[in-house]
Amino acid sequence: MRIGMLGAGTIAQAIARHAIRHGHEVVLSNSRGPGSLAPLVEELGTLASAGTPAEATAADLVVLAVGWPQIRDVAARLPHLDGTVVIDATNQFEALPPHPRIADLGDLTGSEYVASLLPGARVVKAFNSLFAQYIAPDPRHEAGRQVLFLAGDDTDAKNTVIGLTSAFGFAPVDLGSLREGGRLMQLGGPLSGLHALKQD
Ligand SMILES: NC(=O)c1ccc[n+]([C@@H]2O[C@H](COP(=O)([O-])OP(=O)(O)OC[C@H]3O[C@@H](n4cnc5c(N)ncnc54)[C@H](OP(=O)(O)O)[C@@H]3O)[C@@H](O)[C@H]2O)c1
Repeated sequence: MRIGMLGAGTIAQAIARHAIRHGHEVVLSNSRGPGSLAPLVEELGTLASAGTPAEATAADLVVLAVGWPQIRDVAARLPHLDGTVVIDATNQFEALPPHPRIADLGDLTGSEYVASLLPGARVVKAFNSLFAQYIAPDPRHEAGRQVLFLAGDDTDAKNTVIGLTSAFGFAPVDLGSLREGGRLMQLGGPLSGLHALKQD
């Protein structure tokens, strides 16, 4: 698979490393241009490259891993994502801890809001509920595999994400729709920051 990364920070890099370890191509992007990513691309090896955010979306699957305040701006610059599977790894922090401010989206869940900004995309919420230190390492532990909650409205898209993340070694758990499952796993939900292992 060719996987495009919107963002090249902590979470994008953690997912990119899993993808590369499993033979996928990764295109990273950030706000400062592909040139700024040259050292990271060199470190990640020949399966990695850098592009603009728009170039990163010309992929089989896209990961959205930018800060919440940047999402609207990122989305506005992208071409129409016709059926592209987008993993939404974001959390709706308007301001980060230690003085966190969580976006008030009214009735919408975070990923419903993200999906509204990416018409045509098939959005699957995943990775957001885990702290980075539970995403980056090998998710296969002696006591079991790291549980990865996900939610989405498109079954095929979810199956793509389930297949990919199972291959990485995670134990994906489908929580249902962006509305119902998304609410459980987003900031403030009971599964946000819950780190569990699943025994096989
Ligand atoms: N860190 C965690 O433990 C964790 C866990 C789960 C989920 N999350 C969520 O995942 C998302 C990313 O978190 P992170 O910790 O990876 O953040 P991060 O390390 O600060 O990385 C953010 C990335 O977004 C890029 N970016 C900013 N504006 C952009 C734009 N307009 N176009 C393209 N890229 C842009 C930044 O590039 P520049 O540096 O060039 O601006 C940077 O590479 C957040 O929504 C966060 O809430 C974080």
